[in-house]
Amino acid sequence: MVTKKTVEEVFSKVSRKYDFFLNLVTFGKIDLWQREMLDMLSCEGNRLDVGTGTGEVLLKSQNRGLKVGMDLSKDMLRRAREKCKVCRFLVADAENMPFKKSSFSSVTLSLVFRHLLDRRSFLREVKRVLKEGGELALLDINRFSLTPLLVFLMKFPLKPFGLLIFGSEKWSFFIHSLENALSLEEVKRELTEEGFEVAEVQKRLFGFVYLLLAKRR
Ligand SMILES: C[S@@+](CC[C@H](N)C(=O)[O-])C[C@H]1O[C@@H](n2cnc3c(N)ncnc32)[C@H](O)[C@@H]1O
Repeated sequence: MVTKKTVEEVFSKVSRKYDFFLNLVTFGKIDLWQREMLDMLSCEGNRLDVGTGTGEVLLKSQNRGLKVGMDLSKDMLRRAREKCKVCRFLVADAENMPFKKSSFSSVTLSLVFRHLLDRRSFLREVKRVLKEGGELALLDINRFSLTPLLVFLMKFPLKPFGLLIFGSEKWSFFIHSLENALSLEEVKRELTEEGFEVAEVQKRLFGFVYLLLAKRR
């Protein structure tokens, strides 16, 4: 069973190779997708990046307010701190955020939504820490007809590379998190039910990746 401790351990262990691997599996597109996600935002104030990892989203953020990144993994955050000196990073859980009500104008989430164990608690926390009219931007993998194919590729032809770079436990975790990705329709439904209005959706890589902008109602 995947727990927060598993998530924390897996990402801490891969933190040094994470950026290299992410570039590899996204064919070098992750940088562009993160910039395009940020371009969807119009809010200028304080920004929170949840599951910030090695801090790439905040590094690319042009907002004039605070840039705050949180993550379960202190090793991922160590990399983030090396990259972005003007950002503030802290170890914290997305489902129980250590911030006051209405602290942020925007919240971003790149490749994190499918890793959250309790998405409803997370969305309630986002609603609490966002100002009214604040924006939530997501970048993630869409579960659709090609997902079983990718799972197959990871379980068979890509497996030797995965095992070589990450080892068996972590590779299994990545497959698990891919299998747990929601369809775009499911994501939209959860957001709407938790008090957000989906304002824009863009698809990349034949719809396998989505960028989504939602506003706090
Ligand atoms: C796939 S990485 C994405 C990192 C970064 N956002 C990016 O786009 O490269 C997922 C990150 O989410 C973090 N994470 C997962 N569940 C979390 C939670 N409940 N609270 C905070 N961070 C979490 C992990 O530790 C990991 O660093």
